[in-house]
Amino acid sequence: MRKLKITLPGRVRPRRLRQTQSMRDLTAETHLEANQFILPHFVLPTKKGEKPIPSMPGISLMGIENLLKQVESDLDLGIRSVLLFGQTAEGTKSPEGESAADPDGAVQQAVGHLKRMFGDDLVVITDVCLCSYTDHGHCGLIKDNQVDNDSSLRPLVETALSHAHAGADVVAPSDMMDGRVAAIRDGLDDSGFQNVAILAYSAKYASAYYGPFRDAADSAPAYGDRQSYQMDPRNIFEAIRETELDEQEGADMVMVKPALAYLDVISAVRSATMLPLSAYNVSGEYAAVKAAAEKGWLEESKVVRENLIAIRRAGADQIITYHCRDALQKKWL
Ligand code: PBG
Ligand code: ZN
Repeated sequence: MRKLKITLPGRVRPRRLRQTQSMRDLTAETHLEANQFILPHFVLPTKKGEKPIPSMPGISLMGIENLLKQVESDLDLGIRSVLLFGQTAEGTKSPEGESAADPDGAVQQAVGHLKRMFGDDLVVITDVCLCSYTDHGHCGLIKDNQVDNDSSLRPLVETALSHAHAGADVVAPSDMMDGRVAAIRDGLDDSGFQNVAILAYSAKYASAYYGPFRDAADSAPAYGDRQSYQMDPRNIFEAIRETELDEQEGADMVMVKPALAYLDVISAVRSATMLPLSAYNVSGEYAAVKAAAEKGWLEESKVVRENLIAIRRAGADQIITYHCRDALQKKWL
């Protein structure tokens, strides 16, 4: 055999800093902490009750009392921010989704109770959309068989106002209508809610990863899809444009959604804005990990940690994720 001459690395050896756990921790570039997590909740229009969501093991729809108990124990884990979605009582869906702005609706009730119980210890963020309240399941109003942009703004503003009245700290419009951040900002300011912040779902893609959520929130469109308002997954410049518009319209925080299939978008948006950037690790991303873990095909603790780190490393400041209770409770981070 011919004698090989192997060139050795010499002075420069990156492995020096990887030798021990303490050395790796000392030089780690990315950190996950409880303060960065936002946990979504699905609120039932009832006092009590808990309905597990089959495609999202560990996550349930909750009546108000169950929600209060859950949030209290999550606070002990350090989860200080929640994002609320609501279901409307049976038979209350309508073409214009008026029940979204019902002061006695599930979200409005939940906000009131949460703020009375936990005050400033908890950041209460509410999802503002119509799809769980319209009988057609679209995020805006229908005119001539189209989801109409401008007429959808009024009910969205009314919904945001009803959340602000209930005491929400932050309202988060997820409908993707043009101009809704400006409309909501003006609506809030006109009603004396200058201090209610807006977290804009700025770059929200038309994604197949929302499947489990739509079952949970009972918000699947009855016909058609959401491609005329949510973004095309092929686009990234458009995400920057959407973010810039929302920033000009008065958004306080912006969001990229989903997260894992859009890490490049997170990174691009991070360098395009100085606003806090949230990433939404959505229901389908959660379900995929859970299903593989249940089969024993993936090690859940390690995969969740790796995914959450990836989202932070890409540039997200906050992560909206269904994994955060497990991750903190079971010390996966
Ligand atoms: C509805 C809404 C959706 C999600 C949040 N708000 C679904 C959709 O747009 O179809 C998805 C959240 C998730 O999948 O976890 N406006
Ligand atoms: Zn919607």
